[in-house]
Amino acid sequence: MAEDVMEGLSSTHKYLSSKYFYDDEGSRLFQKIMALPEYYLTNCELEILQTQGQEIYNSLHFDGHFNVVELGAGDGSKTVELLKAFTQAGADFTYVPVDISEEAISFLQNKLSKNLPVVKTHPKVGDYFEMLEEIQSEHVPSLVLFLGSNIGNYPYTEAMELLLLIQKQLRAQDKLLIGYDLKKNPHTIAAAYNDTNGITRAFNMNLLTRFNRELGADFNLDQFEFYSHYNPETGAVKSYLVSLIKQEVYFNVLEKSFHFEKNELIYTELSRKYSLNEIEEMASKTGYSCTQHFQDKRNFFSDSLLCKETHS
Ligand code: TRP
Repeated sequence: MAEDVMEGLSSTHKYLSSKYFYDDEGSRLFQKIMALPEYYLTNCELEILQTQGQEIYNSLHFDGHFNVVELGAGDGSKTVELLKAFTQAGADFTYVPVDISEEAISFLQNKLSKNLPVVKTHPKVGDYFEMLEEIQSEHVPSLVLFLGSNIGNYPYTEAMELLLLIQKQLRAQDKLLIGYDLKKNPHTIAAAYNDTNGITRAFNMNLLTRFNRELGADFNLDQFEFYSHYNPETGAVKSYLVSLIKQEVYFNVLEKSFHFEKNELIYTELSRKYSLNEIEEMASKTGYSCTQHFQDKRNFFSDSLLCKETHS
């Protein structure tokens, strides 16, 4: 963390890595974001998985036992809906959630054993790609899940890299179901990333509180504010913290202070929105041959099913 902060705050355009959002307080705030009326993403994807789980299953064309491998499983509340639908459709599968957080995995396992005890679960704690490689050495077809608009937090080249890395791990019949938040009315998107209750603001400011606590920094929270911006041309929502005055912030752990000009920005997150065409173009450039979009009623969100090989 110290190294990342050092690098980010020494850069000409300051940034803080979004992976540090999720300490205990940050995770609680993110749960609150997901419950906000403005943050449509969660409910849209929930609707898709609740209402189209059966159709998604039918599109897999798996006939025997298969693995449902989820990258970045988190709390799994949406995935449970998909697994329920698969179970109702009579599918024979093992759910393999992969997450770097041991705690997230044990929480998820607990929840599943209560809510969906019939589902066989083999959780894996570790790096996505190392785990995926391990799982793919079994001779069982896989549906890989990368849900929740996670892909939107990757810049274009990194998103392409990720699609390619997954593609390389897939065998001919395997599929990838991936969540994309779609381009829509710019006001709707802007509101999702700057709610009127200030939860998104608190979520971003919590980064500073965390560095004060864990790196002995002396950020004065009154001297920073939150700003976010949606550019409908590029599809990028960018979130920032803004220094309200010219100031120095000292980090005990780094034995170093950083200078902030008045109105200088710290970039915290990219949340990219896509069109269906962009999704298809990126998929075909990274070696996927078919794409099927499962969308909510308002067409706000898509869980897109990509496959390596066209089905006859
Ligand atoms: N990464 C999620 C997203 O892009 C979470 C999130 C919601 C978020 N609001 C945010 C991240 C504001 C940074 C800033 O949708």
